[in-house]
Order: sequence, then structure tokens, then C-alpha cells
Amino acid sequence: MGFPRASQRVRSSCIATCFLFLCAACGDDTPVAPANEQVRQRIVSLAPSANIGHRGTGLTRPGHALPENSIVSFVAAMAAGADGIELDVEITQDGQLIVMHDDDLVRTTNCTGCVSEMTFDEIRACRLLDGEGQPTDERPPTLEEVYDAIPSPALINVELKVFGPDCSTDTTGADALVPRALEEVTRLGGEGRTLFSSFDLEAAELVKLEQPEYYSALLLGQADSDDVDQALLLGQDAIHPFFSIAAATVEDALDSGLQVNVWTVNSEVDMEANLDKGTTGIITGFPGVLAELLAN
Ligand code: G3P
Ligand code: CA
Repeated sequence: MGFPRASQRVRSSCIATCFLFLCAACGDDTPVAPANEQVRQRIVSLAPSANIGHRGTGLTRPGHALPENSIVSFVAAMAAGADGIELDVEITQDGQLIVMHDDDLVRTTNCTGCVSEMTFDEIRACRLLDGEGQPTDERPPTLEEVYDAIPSPALINVELKVFGPDCSTDTTGADALVPRALEEVTRLGGEGRTLFSSFDLEAAELVKLEQPEYYSALLLGQADSDDVDQALLLGQDAIHPFFSIAAATVEDALDSGLQVNVWTVNSEVDMEANLDKGTTGIITGFPGVLAELLAN
């Protein structure tokens, strides 16, 4: 037996929130939906699935010219038909934000060293590598550059990366990263199209403690019902599990009011399997493939 699509399950809650959106045009004192509701409804409107480009058009890899987590890759993902992009954000030694996946710079740039032990200016002097390991003109981006390059209504999934033991320092933990990221997205006016997510429980919880109305997702590997309970306990809007999640767990999460956006789905067969489970969003390194599948 198949599972009903997300669009069928959320239809009634949509009516109430769509009313809020319509009222926003009526006058200054009319209610505007909270940021997380705006994101939720944007995702619902993209049913059967939001198409989110993983680090843009996927990892830095041989045969692919575009560096991961670069402006050119984010722009290319949108041009390929993505509804938004996923990126990783970290905090530098001097407390600034930089878009970068790894704890250190060696794999993706022409520099070496922990992001946590380098200043923003030092990291901005580095250049991102293409798939053949050659430096490009691209610098590790700022959030401001990303939000400017990928305009509304595109979704932006900001994954909050907390450093592992090799690069962690006293001044760069979740308690430094999360407030800084929330502040920056607020300054950019991006909260109504931003999905915060993190594998780090403290970071995921902090988003909701500091900004209860911002969209936050708990990132997970192999997820089960205990993880659904954990996400609910942390007040999350969604889980972002590995794509092999069981259909019953997806249903459990959806029935509990969570959205389910899976990562990282790169083959057509896995994309179809997740559409059948009723997941609300797919994070993929191949947004063009998913766009074509959804169009058909
Ligand atoms: O957000 C989903 C996915 O990006 C999590 O894994 O290692 O690619 O950041 P990773
Ligand atoms: Ca990520």
C-alpha cells in the first residue's frame, strides 16, 4: 500500500496559514505568518517535494568544475531547477561566519588549517578548488553573498557545523555559532526562507531557544521513531534524515507535525523511492535530475 503524499496530509493546515499570507497584503497591522510557518508552507507548496541542491550542485569532485559551497555552484543549482540550496556554515577564530563543510581547509581550498584557528580575512584569501584540484576565482562565501546571489523565494538550508575534536576550541562551539548565524540571517531578512539544521543537538536546541519561530531541523543518520521523539522534544520543525529512512518512520514524523527532508539523494531510483514515502523535501547533489523527475 502506498503512502499519501504530503500535499494531501497538510491540506487543512494550509488553509489557515494561507489566510495569514493573504492578510499580509491588507495593511500594516494585519498578521504575518511566523518565519517557520512561511518556510513550512513554501515547502508544502512545492509538493510532492522541495528540490534542494546539496552544497549547490554537490561535492567537489573530478569531472565537475564547480566547487562545493560556492556561489557559482549555488547559482547553477537554481538554474538547473532547484527550489533552494543547502550550505554548511562555520565560525572563524575571530567570530565571523564562513560557508565551508570541512573543519579544515585542505580538501576544498588551496589553504590548510582548521577554520576555527584562522581569521575571517585569512580564510577569505583562500581560493576554492575545482574538481581537478585547481584553484578557481571563487572564495569561501559569506552568508550575505549567498542570500544576495540566491534571491527570494529560494529556500536556503543553513547547516550549522560544530567542529569535531581535532579543530574544536573554547570560543567556537555551538553557543558561539548559533547566535551569530541567527543574528546574520535576521540582519539579511532571510528567516522566512531559511531552514536551519544541525547534527549537533545543542545547536538544534539553541535555534529554538533563541528564535522559537525560526525553522529548525534535526539532522540524522539512520533515523527511527526515537529520533522523531527527540526532534519533538527539541521543538523542531523537521527532521533531516539519511534517505534510507523507513516509510513508517516518515509517516510517524509527518503525523507528529514534522516535515521530513532527506539527504543526500543522488540517484533517480532513490529519488522516486522517497517521493513514494511522502518525504517533503529532497536534498540532492543533482537538482537537475530531480527537477526533470518532478516535471514528469
Ligand atoms: O544537510 C544534509 C547533509 O548536508 C548532511 O551531511 O556531511 O553533507 O553536511 P553533510
Ligand atoms: Ca551539509
